[in-house]
Amino acid sequence: TYVVLDNCIACKYTDCVEVCPVDCFYEGENMLVIHPDECIDCGVCEPECPADAIRADTEPGTESWVEFNRKYSELWPVIIERKDPLPDAEERDGEEGKLQKYFS
Ligand code: SF4
Ligand code: F3S
Repeated sequence: TYVVLDNCIACKYTDCVEVCPVDCFYEGENMLVIHPDECIDCGVCEPECPADAIRADTEPGTESWVEFNRKYSELWPVIIERKDPLPDAEERDGEEGKLQKYFS
């Protein structure tokens, strides 16, 4: 599966949802997640993210993010259409400690 990592937080560009063939992105207040059981591993979303926040779970450091994505994809509504990024997306891109600072 592919997963959304913390750099999505406070950016939420949503370019990813537009290319996903199986509509497996779910939307929280300030980030998206991928449902790991619905993702077909096509990989097309990864290069589309302006914040470089999507990774394959074969990459190191992604283990805890699979469970994070699973948990919230079961709580949040599906998102199938692109929308405007969050207002401070450019400024927040790459900022450290986003999970603690902005996740809600
Ligand atoms: Fe959707 Fe493919 Fe990205 Fe999985 S890898 S979330 S199926 S676009
Ligand atoms: Fe987030 Fe990147 Fe999608 S910032 S909403 S994973 S395009």
